Amino acid sequence: MSDKHDPYKVKDTGHEWDGIKELDNPPPRWWMIGMHISWITAVIYCILFPSIPLVNRSTEGLLAWTQVKKLEKEFAEVEAMRAPYDEKLLAMSPEDIMKNAELSNFVQGSARVLFGDNCAPCHGAGGAGGPDFPVLADDEWLYGGAVETIVETIADGREGMMPAHGTLLTKEELDDVVNYVVGLSQGKLHEKGRVVFMGESPGEAVCFGCHGEDAKGMPDMGAPNLADGIWRFSGTEEGIRHTITHGVNDGEDDMTRKAIMPAFAEKLSETQIKKLAVLVHQFGGGQ
Ligand code: HEC
Ligand code: HEC
Repeated sequence: MSDKHDPYKVKDTGHEWDGIKELDNPPPRWWMIGMHISWITAVIYCILFPSIPLVNRSTEGLLAWTQVKKLEKEFAEVEAMRAPYDEKLLAMSPEDIMKNAELSNFVQGSARVLFGDNCAPCHGAGGAGGPDFPVLADDEWLYGGAVETIVETIADGREGMMPAHGTLLTKEELDDVVNYVVGLSQGKLHEKGRVVFMGESPGEAVCFGCHGEDAKGMPDMGAPNLADGIWRFSGTEEGIRHTITHGVNDGEDDMTRKAIMPAFAEKLSETQIKKLAVLVHQFGGGQ
């Protein structure tokens, strides 16, 4: 038995139960060292980092470290990595960007986030479209799929306009022109409907003036191709009848189809718009 367990050699605390004395040994050395390291560390931490709560805030600590500052520093690092790219992009046309594989890659990566935040709520993930919102990933374009045109669309917005024809046509003329449009993508020619479409019937329809004589659309008017079986709104007879009767963005008609692409020139920078145009162009349908 070592001395520290010998009740005759060590001071006791005076407590005794049934002949067992409580000795007054100090705690083991390793334990004391551990304890001192702990409190010294705690004091150093309190001096360096925010720690002691005050009324509205806490002590700041010598290093003035905060989570927000850490995040800002990380953002700044990403910005610094991006800056040389963004500078180059600002001076380049979207066409030149697309010719440069490295830049084009960089642009697609960073534009995907922009697209998710600003465009996907309407156009769907990856530009897959949605009810009343055009698909951006196909090669059917209302306004044209050249990258410069896409820049214009994003910056200035678009608002297609087709007058409601419900009151301009007789019931029979309406039926005929609906059948004509339905037949177009099925390779069937509805002759009486074509007469209405070409404005040669008494009713006030000049469909060809916007959609073209061959009904293949006119990008300058934002008027879609009606002959390719791809439908912006609906390709059912019912849906086509609705579009022709009530028009698109015709303020006079309560049941008109609404189609407004908001302008982003004030919300996004020139470079961001350029990036988005390159991304949309490369979704698959660029011209
Ligand atoms: C509030 C819904 C909405 C948002 C947000 C939106 N768009 Fe659109 N976008 C539309 C609508 C509606 C049209 C069709 C306009 C029309 O029919 O005249 C359209 C049309 C377009 C077109 C023309 C397609 C064609 O066929 O010519 C492009 C390109 C486009 N959007 C890109 C974008 C991009 C890029 C963003 C994000 C910066 C975006 N849009 C955000 C609703 C939206
Ligand atoms: C003033 C020009 C204009 C005239 C006239 C016009 N349209 Fe349109 N039409 C448009 C535009 C623009 C759109 C697409 C609107 C949009 O998506 O923003 C459209 C859309 C349509 C659509 C929907 C296509 C789809 O993909 O869902 C149909 C169908 C259609 N027009 C048929 C007709 C017929 C039939 C006539 C004649 C009775 C006619 N339009 C007259 C401009 C016109």
